[in-house]
Formats: sequence, C-alpha cells, structure tokens
Amino acid sequence: MADIMTTLAPLIETINGTMARLIAEDDKIVGRVSGYSLAGGGKRLRPLIFCLTAEAAGVRMTPELYETASSFELLHMATLLHDDIVDMAAVRRGLATAHLTFGVPETVLAGDYLLAKAAGLVARTGNMDCVRIATGVVAALSLGELMQLGSRRKTEQSETDYFRIIYRKTAALIEGAAKNAAILAEVSPEARAQAARYGRKLGLAFQIMDDILDYQGDQAALGKPVGQDLAEGNITLPFIRAREALAGAPRERLCELASRPDLNEADRAEILALVAAGGGLTSSRLTADELAREAVTCLKALPATEARDRLEALALYAVKRDR
Ligand code: IPE
Ligand code: IPE
Ligand code: MG
Ligand code: MG
Repeated sequence: MADIMTTLAPLIETINGTMARLIAEDDKIVGRVSGYSLAGGGKRLRPLIFCLTAEAAGVRMTPELYETASSFELLHMATLLHDDIVDMAAVRRGLATAHLTFGVPETVLAGDYLLAKAAGLVARTGNMDCVRIATGVVAALSLGELMQLGSRRKTEQSETDYFRIIYRKTAALIEGAAKNAAILAEVSPEARAQAARYGRKLGLAFQIMDDILDYQGDQAALGKPVGQDLAEGNITLPFIRAREALAGAPRERLCELASRPDLNEADRAEILALVAAGGGLTSSRLTADELAREAVTCLKALPATEARDRLEALALYAVKRDR
C-alpha cells in the first residue's frame, strides 16, 4: 500500500494552492513571513483532517470549504511562529526560523495577524458553533504553551499535567478541525462527538510521537533540531515514564540532570541513556499506539468510505512517522 502522504499528495496540493492564494492577499511583512513558513513545507495534517472528515461525512469540498480547512493550517502556522520564539528554536521545516530571519517583533505580529485571519475565515462559514470552537482552540493553544512554560524543569511534573498541556497545545486544534468539519457536514450529534474524539486522540498520539522524536529523531528528516525539549526544560512523557520506572540513585540522577538550566552534550547523553534504561521511550510509544488505535475506533461512527480509510491511515501515520 502506498504511503498515506503519497496518496494524499493531490489533496495536499489543493490545500497548498488555497494557502498560497490566501497568503497572497497579505502584502508586506505578514505575507513574507507566512510565505516563508509555507515554503518550508510541513505535513498539512490539520487541513487534511478537516477535508477528509468532511468528505467522510458526505460533503463535497468547495473552494470555500478549502478555505475553512486552511484556516486550521493558518492557526497552526501562527502557533509555530510563536512557539519557536518561546522555545528559542533556530530551525523549522528545514529553514532558519522566522524570528531569526525577519525579527522577533515582526514574527510575533505576523503570528497575531494570522490568528485573526484564521478566525475571520471560520466566521465566513456563518456558523456560530464553528466560530466558538475556533476561538476556544486559540485560547487553548495559548494556555497550553503557558502551562508548559510554568512547568519547565519541574521534574516532578505529573503525567496528568503533561496530558493537560498536550491536549491544549496540540490536540485541541486537531479536535477542532475534525469537529468543525463534522458540524458543517451536519452529521448526527453522535457522529460529531466521535469525529471530535478521533481528532483529540490522534492529536494526543501525535504530540507524544513528537516528544519521542525529540529524544530519538533525525534532524534532517524532522526539519527541526532534536533535543530541543531537554534544552528548554520541557518535561515530556518519555522522561515521566522513565522517572516512574526508575528508583533510587538513577532516578535522582535523572531528575537532577533534567533540572539543570544549561545542559551540555554529556548531560544530554546521560539523560537519554537513563530515559532509555527506564523504558521511557518504549512505554511512550505503546501509549501513542494505543491512542491512535482508539482514534481509529471512533471512525466507526462515520460511513465506510475511502475518505474514512484515509483518516484511519492518518491516525496510524501519526505514530509511525519520522518527520
Ligand atoms: C509541529 O507540528 C508542532 C506539534 C504540534 C508537534 P507538525 O509536526 O504538524 O509540523 P508541520 O506542520 O508538519 O511542520
Ligand atoms: C508543539 O510543541 C505544540 C505547539 C503549540 C507548536 P513543540 O514545542 O513540541 O513543537 P515543536 O517540536 O517545536 O514543533
Ligand atoms: Mg517548539
Ligand atoms: Mg516538539
């Protein structure tokens, strides 16, 4: 079977074309920043989920609906612009980050503009439920990033708090994309709830995988540096699972190392070895796989179609990817 991203290439092309047109409306610095981000590539996961959920629910995609789909990529783009400033990241999508290229103030403001632009596109649907969901997503994204900021180097951070953070910073947006598509497709309340659940589970699995890749991914494939979370003191699932599995001196050593503000290469290597010894990566992978399978189960609420098969493949891709 062809790789799902290859299968979806024509749909990705349509999304990219819509995005390019939307961005071309914006001149000056905003257009340059978003054009730069767009050119870097990216998986377009959120608009893909919107389009496929709408299609699985029996809707024919129109140019207007592609714009609604793209609003979720604009929200994502804005989040990445802001996130890379918060995380002081140097590389994104294989390119120097926007704030290093255009300046921090310019990038903050371009991100703000994109948030408003995305909200405006959702408002064009005239559907108040969709608007409420989109604005809720923007609030969740900021809260998630703020909560993460407040938990930095708190090596005792609980798994419950970790899940609260990743729901807000990542899963809420993907949930919103699936839910808005289901609402616009006017499916039953049950099917709508299951579509939202699919997005939520996939989003959680996706972020856990992102956090695993931060430990053991390949920068060239990912298009962003590995080890960024440890460098910034973000306590993620592989660490939490290893901390819980270890005891005594190794556990104390792991926590002591991860609480250091300036990690050197040797510290990083030691953390990685301790996380691996504590089974943190394996255990996180199992959880991501389980969430992806649960996401697939939610799709039973939608009729069996090619689009639904693709949503299923995307959920599995979320935890198999290397980028
Ligand atoms: C990166 O998202 C931020 C996370 C939520 C993990 P993606 O991995 O979807 O980034 P792109 O859009 O493909 O670059
Ligand atoms: C992803 O957080 C969630 C966002 C809101 C962007 P990360 O900080 O893990 O994302 P990457 O790894 O920089 O893409
Ligand atoms: Mg980041
Ligand atoms: Mg990450």
